[in-house]
Amino acid sequence: MRQILERASKNIGGDFYSANEIIHYFKEKEIDKDWSLCEIPRTETSKWTHNYHRYPAKFIPQLVEKLMDEYVMNVNSHINDPFMGCGTTIVSALSRGYKASGTDINHIAYLITKVKSTPIEPTLLKSKVNQFLKQLSFLEDNQISIFTPSIEPLIPSKYRDRIDYWFTEDNKYDLGVILRAIYNEENINIRDFYLVAFSHILKNCSLWLQSSTKPTRDLNKKPSRPYFVLKTHLMKMLKGNEDFYNFIPDKVKINLNEYLNISLQDARKQSVDNETVDLIITSSPYVTSYEYADLHQLSDIWLYFTDDLTEYKTKFIGTSYKKYDNINLSSLIAKNIVSQMSLVHKKKAKEIEAFYIDMEEVFNESYRILKKGGRCCFVIGNTKYKGIDVLNAEVFAESLQYAGFILDRIIKREIPSKILPQKRDEKTGRFASNSKANCEAYPVEYIIIGLKE
Ligand SMILES: C[S@@+](CC[C@H](N)C(=O)[O-])C[C@H]1O[C@@H](n2cnc3c(N)ncnc32)[C@H](O)[C@@H]1O
Repeated sequence: MRQILERASKNIGGDFYSANEIIHYFKEKEIDKDWSLCEIPRTETSKWTHNYHRYPAKFIPQLVEKLMDEYVMNVNSHINDPFMGCGTTIVSALSRGYKASGTDINHIAYLITKVKSTPIEPTLLKSKVNQFLKQLSFLEDNQISIFTPSIEPLIPSKYRDRIDYWFTEDNKYDLGVILRAIYNEENINIRDFYLVAFSHILKNCSLWLQSSTKPTRDLNKKPSRPYFVLKTHLMKMLKGNEDFYNFIPDKVKINLNEYLNISLQDARKQSVDNETVDLIITSSPYVTSYEYADLHQLSDIWLYFTDDLTEYKTKFIGTSYKKYDNINLSSLIAKNIVSQMSLVHKKKAKEIEAFYIDMEEVFNESYRILKKGGRCCFVIGNTKYKGIDVLNAEVFAESLQYAGFILDRIIKREIPSKILPQKRDEKTGRFASNSKANCEAYPVEYIIIGLKE
């Protein structure tokens, strides 16, 4: 925001940027090519443990690394991510020997982050994985004989109908056997490592349309057989673990508990002390984007993360399952978007309002935990719904000021096509395949950086 500061001091001489100034600034803002990071090969974006589990709208680690290069001032820094997803920020911070803390409300996100940021001694892990696969190898060719170990499949009964909906009989049996064998493992870190592999293969082994992030059934799909994909994926994870184990500083490996503080919690209330964080690097959910609880339902039903899926969904920020009454927004830009939207789609307007209300609380919480001189970096994209521009980035920029931050900088970056979230059709507001969409919902995104003075 240095340019804004200059312009504003010429124009109004103040530190607080009005809604109009912010809108104007964003209209003129050009793409910072240095931040698009388009040329980085997949081998690099999926290095270390970053290849453990797919995750919608995840960062590439190089984006986090670039922000840390720019803003981390000392070797004992503490990095935080209130929406840690699959833990890109957390893993990147640990890899440099910084303290890392974060939250996510999503059970599978917490599990993935925990496993990705807990390197295991490679020789031990390799021998455990080999024994584990050996014990299950009878699943390889369906060779059941009198020598086959008797492993009673574990298929959670609570969600039996959902499991029946997504999985064939054969795969249900195999997955149930694998899950039972996983829970027989006594070493918790190794058990969780297997659980992440198990969760990752569920999509391939189900009738979930492979090309879709959303829950769509493909009755023509020939699902992969679980043992085969599990074995392949575990081999990849072994390599990722070894690379991470060898890279991460010894001080972190030996005292992981001192360096890692993650929890399954709401971003609005983190278990992090006041003024202890140097830098927040995060990307929030979007209101018109993914329903994370729906996207991870295969893992939720198999790993039995929740008793009540409906209630669970309302805990997510940016969900369509939530609305508030009688709570006021501070951001004028947000209020304007909500009132425009309510003319064309009342329900969506309430959802968007709830999202911005929740995010204002996240900004307050971010302010609380940051040290003076610390920064928060929120990565966010804008979208359009039913012809109305949903200017998330502009709202975030304005709202951060209400939380007490000085707007420090705004970066506009292209999203490399391989991680581009799905686009919406301009007329219907529905998701379309990237080639069919006539408007690009997220061709670029912004990094909104606030400074706590
Ligand atoms: C865009 S994703 C973050 C992706 C992450 N940057 C990564 O690299 O994997 C947003 C995350 O916000 C989480 N989330 C939604 N509501 C939340 C809440 N109330 N508290 C904490 N996390 C929440 C979702 O589960 C999702 O993982």
